[in-house]
Amino acid sequence: MDTKGTALAGRTALITGASRGIGRAMAITFADQGANVVVTARSAETLAEVVDLIASNGGRACAVAADVMHEDSAARVVESALAEYGRLDILVNNAGGNSFISPLGTMRFAGWQKVFALNLDSTVRMIQAALPALVASGNGSIINVSSVTGLRGSPLMSHYGAAKAAVISLTQSLAIEVAADGVRANALVPGWIETDLTEFLRADEGLEDAAIGRVPMQRWGTTDEIAQAALFLASDASSFMTGQALVVDGGLSAQP
Ligand SMILES: NC(=O)c1ccc[n+]([C@@H]2O[C@H](COP(=O)([O-])OP(=O)(O)OC[C@H]3O[C@@H](n4cnc5c(N)ncnc54)[C@H](OP(=O)(O)O)[C@@H]3O)[C@@H](O)[C@H]2O)c1
Repeated sequence: MDTKGTALAGRTALITGASRGIGRAMAITFADQGANVVVTARSAETLAEVVDLIASNGGRACAVAADVMHEDSAARVVESALAEYGRLDILVNNAGGNSFISPLGTMRFAGWQKVFALNLDSTVRMIQAALPALVASGNGSIINVSSVTGLRGSPLMSHYGAAKAAVISLTQSLAIEVAADGVRANALVPGWIETDLTEFLRADEGLEDAAIGRVPMQRWGTTDEIAQAALFLASDASSFMTGQALVVDGGLSAQP
């Protein structure tokens, strides 16, 4: 299938967590649609592979290694994007994840804070750093990656679920605040997607059955399926859509 197009021609997209998984798929998809793509994550080596792959497909990309947990990263990454391409039209706050489970009653507070810093605080910092450039674009689009765990109770993952729920809420508030400035903001809400983040579930048949057994479509989602939804939110195909949470989960959250 020819995946090339011009939906994002002339636009620059900045994607956090773009070295692997969902962010990597978004970077490749956006570049295939003509965007200049700035990929960021901690691993410079893995980012370089993504940039090389995009270049070998005839696209344009550059990498900025940064840890979104560091306070000064957002400003540095946005400055690098503007220095390279002179404009910023699309911001995808995708870096995130969760590395532990625990009942809330006995959860170490440091763990709670770490997950909020990675999934929520980093999103706020990136938005604040990028907003002036997105307003200047005249057609800015912000995509904040949430999770179905943020839509309802997520036992043993209250920290992750609460952070991802907050991502949806701040997206709604932000969308209202910046609509008159020509910037749209939407949340993208994946269900179970086959990436490194969910490898521990596939490594245990019981855990995998428990997770995927509840998905009406009875399978893992692919990173490309999330990237296509991100492309929709980034492009003019969604030009009258802002403040929404687009769920891509094989029907998981439709269940009672
Ligand atoms: N997979 C799922 O089932 C699923 C479901 C719902 C929501 N999500 C959300 O989708 C997003 C992407 O998840 P994924 O499954 O693609 O995860 P992944 O495969 O673990 O990839 C995570 C990406 O984020 C980067 N990253 C992690 N910590 C970072 C940090 N401190 N600073 C900068 N970059 C960092 C990683 O690169 P480095 O390690 O090199 O930094 C990598 O590029 C996350 O927000 C996740 O919460 C995933």
